[in-house]
Amino acid sequence: MTLFRATVLDTPDSPFTGGVLRSEEDCAIVVDDGVIVARGPYAEVRTAHPGEEVLDLREGMILPGLVDTHVHFPQVRVIGGLGMPLLDWLDQCALPEEMRLADVEAARGIAKDFVTGLVDAGTTTALVFGSHFAGAVDVMFETADQWGLRVTTGLVTSDRILPEPLLTTPARAYAESAELAARWHGKDRLRYAVTPRFSLSASEAILESCGATFRDVEGSFFTSHVNENDAEIAEVARLFGGSSYVDTYAVHGLLNRRSVLAHNVHPTDAELATLAGLDASVAHCPTSNSALGSGLFPLRRHVEAGVRVAMGSDVGAGTGFSLLKEGLQAYFMQRLLGGEGLPLTSAHLLWLCTAAGADALALADTVGDLSVGKQFDAVWLLPEAGNPLAVGLGNARSADDALSKVFALGTTSDIGGVWVGGDQIAAGRWHRPRRA
Ligand code: GUN
Ligand code: ZN
Repeated sequence: MTLFRATVLDTPDSPFTGGVLRSEEDCAIVVDDGVIVARGPYAEVRTAHPGEEVLDLREGMILPGLVDTHVHFPQVRVIGGLGMPLLDWLDQCALPEEMRLADVEAARGIAKDFVTGLVDAGTTTALVFGSHFAGAVDVMFETADQWGLRVTTGLVTSDRILPEPLLTTPARAYAESAELAARWHGKDRLRYAVTPRFSLSASEAILESCGATFRDVEGSFFTSHVNENDAEIAEVARLFGGSSYVDTYAVHGLLNRRSVLAHNVHPTDAELATLAGLDASVAHCPTSNSALGSGLFPLRRHVEAGVRVAMGSDVGAGTGFSLLKEGLQAYFMQRLLGGEGLPLTSAHLLWLCTAAGADALALADTVGDLSVGKQFDAVWLLPEAGNPLAVGLGNARSADDALSKVFALGTTSDIGGVWVGGDQIAAGRWHRPRRA
């Protein structure tokens, strides 16, 4: 057992429904076999646990591990391709790079770069958009397992419009997905996600095959893109005979409590009602939406319709792995929406980057906050003495104010340690794969 002594900030209850930031100075968290077994004021908890080793992390603060609900593994090396809207960016930046993953050795290097990016950003749980190549997805699962990250991912499938090497058939997609799921789904912290790229590149036949995989792999997840860009949406409507974008997935049984659709920047009210009714979640990816000029996410409409929303970095259209940056950009975009925007506090931002993600991924019983009974997935924010974040924290008026400064100023360089299930997997520039 280990006793962690720190200032701890988390959001066990949603600020969208009255929850507030929970902040405890000089808090003790006792972790046994990865699980938080006691928590409270240090003096009290120490009396009850006099013999445990104490890890003194009082400098800086501890937050729950960050949860990224939409991030593309094959795109880590093309982050930063600015100046294009979605479909041009796919043609010129993303898809040429994604074809390189046909080579498993290339995929291995990319998976390592990708997981390093997640860990350095303090992301401990992720719904990862995989590769079109089964060998590369296998490598992604293997790499995530070595590091001990909580990763849900799967084979990306498409059977039209994309370059030929990225295409498959419904039968092959089903067979390869079944094989990957048999090997990885439910192993350690890994789960399978059925992943048609988007309806633009998916015929009815391949969406039907995805529906079969989703039904047949018990407890699997579904993820894809929806309503991201005006030109994309118009083309999907044309290809599907005027169907709504959300319905292209719903009619194949792809939307339920284990479904996460990325973007949804331009939904109709009927689509929001469908998502709420089917209990599906949306991954909001604000730096991607900004970089591609996709639009301003209607968060208020999602919240009012009762659609669950969490955060995604959408690397590589998104501009990096930091969910702190995504949180800040989400805040900016709601400000820019004026009266239609939803004003966000730092507690909303922390919720969106942690517990909301855990909830979207049906992991709220396991991670998302630092309550007794949860796994100890945590990030230690430790800004270098004298940097603007350290100065800001030293002069914060309250815990909410300190957390605002974390979102405004925090970067991946401010992350001093990362734990998953009680295992420390990073300390500054040092990383420890669980099994090398
Ligand atoms: N829609 C289909 N593929 C992609 C992708 O790779 N990135 C984004 N942002 N949108 C997509
Ligand atoms: Zn995406």
